[in-house]
Amino acid sequence: MKKLSSLLLIIAVLFLGSCTHTEIKQMPPLKVFNHSFSNYDSVKLKHLYLDLNVDFTKKVLEGKVVLDIDNSMGSKFLILDTKQLVIEKVQLEDSTNTPWSLGKEEKFVGQALVIEISKKTQRVAVYYHTIPEAEALMWLDPAQTSGKRNPFLFTQSQAILARTWIPCMDAPAVRFTYNAKITCDSKYMALMSASNPQHKTKDGVYTFEMDKPIPSYLMALAVGDIEFKSLGDNCGVYAEPGMLEKSANEFTALPSMISSASELYGEYAWGRYDILVLPPSFPFGGMENPRLTFATPTIIAGDKSLVSLVAHELAHSWSGNLVTNNTWDDFWLNEGFTVYFEERIMEKIYGKDYADMLSTISLGELKMTLKDLMVNAPGDTKLKLNLKGRNPDDGVSDIAYIKGCMFLKLLEAKVGRQKWDQFLNKYFNTYMWKTVNTEEFIKYLNENLLAQNPGVKINLNEWIYDVGLPKDCPNIVSQNLNKVEAFAEKVNLSKSLKGFDTTGFTTHHWLHFFRNLEADSVKGLMEQLDTSYHLSQSTNSEIQCDWYLLCIENNYSKANPFIENYLLNVGRRKFLKPLYEAFAKTPEGLKMGRAIFEKAESSYHAVSRNTIKEILHIEAEVE
Ligand code: BES
Ligand code: ZN
Repeated sequence: MKKLSSLLLIIAVLFLGSCTHTEIKQMPPLKVFNHSFSNYDSVKLKHLYLDLNVDFTKKVLEGKVVLDIDNSMGSKFLILDTKQLVIEKVQLEDSTNTPWSLGKEEKFVGQALVIEISKKTQRVAVYYHTIPEAEALMWLDPAQTSGKRNPFLFTQSQAILARTWIPCMDAPAVRFTYNAKITCDSKYMALMSASNPQHKTKDGVYTFEMDKPIPSYLMALAVGDIEFKSLGDNCGVYAEPGMLEKSANEFTALPSMISSASELYGEYAWGRYDILVLPPSFPFGGMENPRLTFATPTIIAGDKSLVSLVAHELAHSWSGNLVTNNTWDDFWLNEGFTVYFEERIMEKIYGKDYADMLSTISLGELKMTLKDLMVNAPGDTKLKLNLKGRNPDDGVSDIAYIKGCMFLKLLEAKVGRQKWDQFLNKYFNTYMWKTVNTEEFIKYLNENLLAQNPGVKINLNEWIYDVGLPKDCPNIVSQNLNKVEAFAEKVNLSKSLKGFDTTGFTTHHWLHFFRNLEADSVKGLMEQLDTSYHLSQSTNSEIQCDWYLLCIENNYSKANPFIENYLLNVGRRKFLKPLYEAFAKTPEGLKMGRAIFEKAESSYHAVSRNTIKEILHIEAEVE
């Protein structure tokens, strides 16, 4: 008996000893700077090695991250960002445990992981696991995939969610290279924003390398029943088997997009460019993870009408991934330049008419957004944002994207395309592998373009630091959409569809038509539009979103089952947001929106879920 109890005691001591760790005696002051606790000004993060096991049953990633650092400045601590992570132990290069502590939880930003290091420390290993609710991770049940037989995992790290699956310096100003070993069931393939396999391995072990320095928001992982199809020498597409052919057919323009982009603004720097088509829960249209864009299946329209999204994500290989916004307040430097570049790729491949059509649609969207934001959040209509203390997600709006692009279009118009393109090439070259903030960009613009063109008058301060849209915003004329405007005007005046001819209508014609209809004329025409053109049954995600919005606004209840079906099957926030917002405008609508959300919630990614909860006034998750 005595023997047994002492044995138990020994076991307990050993067990506790392995769980507890030495806390840091005196914590350094912790402050949030640019949405990060990390001390990147004192310690340089050079390289990261990830070794993670993917457990679909527990819905966790488990393993370690090894960080190679340069501490020649002799900081006593390495401070990393974490959120929702369970840290098990922290070791230095000689496998000795080192004291560590977690700081106080801060809304949106998470907790600092403070690790004791010395001037000599070059390597730190953090053993940890994620939790099933980790915001960057989406664990899909088989029912939520196209094949319905296997689970699926994908990450979404931008803007500050990398810290929910990797303890790291989670700020866009910090760049590092990485390699990784991911272990999963051998039924699945694992892919990352790095060099990727094209076949499943026998043992489910995959190794990756990203030898170019990237910021943490571009860390990405996807695991599932995935297959690959080549689209050219340096590009291809990954998808679930049932989606692979459709995806490959939709993206046939990919090789020419890559060569057009390179002709415009310099050599493609990342080696391969592949696209991974995800299940519909992916909360965004696309995400520019280097070497492997993540894309929503809602762009597979069957007629290639939504492929400008690929041009957008590809353009990020220059603007964003090569030249990166220094803080999330400078987000327009990523997105405004990318929308501009996207339009140039589209123009090069499909011609000016087509590009003008896309641009007209965008400008219309910007104007609608401005109408709303000028009333509800005028400060957020500035290009240079102020997201201090807020979720950087609040900065994701048409302002950074389209106002940013319009500003660049104005500069182009003022100096002429030739000089502008020379300037942009030089800009990408000068800042490649670096970050830029708005002020540095203005200085660079003044010194390298405006100083040489003294005749050009442009109020930079107004464009960048003022609210609203400056009067000199370029106007876009689309020959292609003019006839649609004429149709809409006729319908608005006559309140009938007489003479309305949709021959040659493509996705964008429909969108433009819907957006030019006046509320009082469309009300009486819903039924007729639907029976004539089967709009409720459309399978084009963009047309569906616009049409369903009209249906909700006009109480056209015949579409309700279709709307519900759409909201249950699509997780892309851009589509969910306006529809739930429209529901929330009336008490009955709110009830219906909430009922649908209850059913749909589990198929939405945290990013979408949190946005919708806010719209429907459902208590947001504890941050
Ligand atoms: N990088 C963005 C997506 C993003 C932005 C994710 C901010 C998280 C925070 C991506 O390049 C993007 O802009 N996607 C757009 C598509 C595009 C064609 C405008 C989207 O998802 O709708
Ligand atoms: Zn983008």
